[in-house]
Amino acid sequence: MRDSLFIKAAFSEKTDRPPVWMMRQAGRFMKEYWDIKNKYSFLEMCKTPEIAADVTMLPVDLLGIDAAILFSDILVTAEAMGGDLSFANGIGPKFSNPVRNQEGVDALQTNVNDKLQYVADAIKVIQQRLNGSIPLIGFAGAPFTVMSYLVEGGSSKDFKLTKLLIHNEPELAHQLLSKIAKVTIDYLNLQIAAGVNAVQIFDSWAQALAWDDYKEFSHKYIAQIIAGLNRKDIPVISFCKGSSVFAPLMAEAKPDVISIDWNVDLLDIKQRLPKGIAVQGNLDPHVLYADKKVIKERIHRLFDRMKGENGFIFNLGHGIMPDIPFDNVKYAVEIIKSYKN
Ligand code: CP3
Repeated sequence: MRDSLFIKAAFSEKTDRPPVWMMRQAGRFMKEYWDIKNKYSFLEMCKTPEIAADVTMLPVDLLGIDAAILFSDILVTAEAMGGDLSFANGIGPKFSNPVRNQEGVDALQTNVNDKLQYVADAIKVIQQRLNGSIPLIGFAGAPFTVMSYLVEGGSSKDFKLTKLLIHNEPELAHQLLSKIAKVTIDYLNLQIAAGVNAVQIFDSWAQALAWDDYKEFSHKYIAQIIAGLNRKDIPVISFCKGSSVFAPLMAEAKPDVISIDWNVDLLDIKQRLPKGIAVQGNLDPHVLYADKKVIKERIHRLFDRMKGENGFIFNLGHGIMPDIPFDNVKYAVEIIKSYKN
């Protein structure tokens, strides 16, 4: 795997063309996902290694992407810590026991790798199926983003309760974040031991934070996690919505790759980062709703801009939306793979 397009680009080495994968590639925009989803609950799918492997393989087989991503969710760590997690159709994640006080934080467990063994089992099945063809990316949520779900009890528009906790009870927020960070280090090392070839840390909602709060309540814990990984030959990708602002700080946590949202010119931001940090991104996922000629033009525009740069992995600035036409995603992958550097 060390010589694959994806791993070489992640380590900023020269490749014949940039590799392509897409966040949320293993999901709802594919009819074949629904064929499986209609038979099982989302958590059943995550916890049954054969099913998790089936879903992981869908974009590998149907799209021909250059890296697979484990089918799971960022909230499985929070569940293992004691969060009562459910995913109702069309509503998204819910915790029936939100964590909002000292008692709640104290009740969370931090030695939970046994409960996450199903993820290691899934990784082994997936690697058998991939059979050395392309790398497998493992992942976890960043402590701030995971905390926001535990505190709010689900998704949120404004993160009101999470920000109140940070502002009024910073000590308690730090206790909670430290617990999640510890679990996340163990969990990513479990994935690495089970055989993933790269890991991505998702801090999807970091953009809600002011600069100082990002530094104190998010960045600090991502740096701890990255420093705690057994990462020999395993590139670490740091993703957040808001990376167009936070990237210089994200770089201080020493990831190999920073995944960039679509608000910024990718070459400009890459040139502002320390040498040796690759970038991943950064097409606006909404472009994939547009006409094919627009999709082609926008991909070519990005690739022309990045021409000759080592350390560029194509991705979207955030995940694929469930109602993006499959045909358009497939077309985008074809355009990317036939681009001549
Ligand atoms: O990228 C992939 O395809 C791999 C699988 C994956 C899922 N979730 C599957 C999933 C990954 C990497 C995630 C990460 C995740 N989960 C994030 C960070 C990524 C991002 O997009 O910012 C977040 C914030 C979550 C939390 C979560 N899980 C939410 C908010 C929801 C419901 C709404 C939504 O946006 O999807 C989920 C459920 C979920 N996770 C689904 C899938 C395929 C949908 C389940 C269903 O079929 O209803």
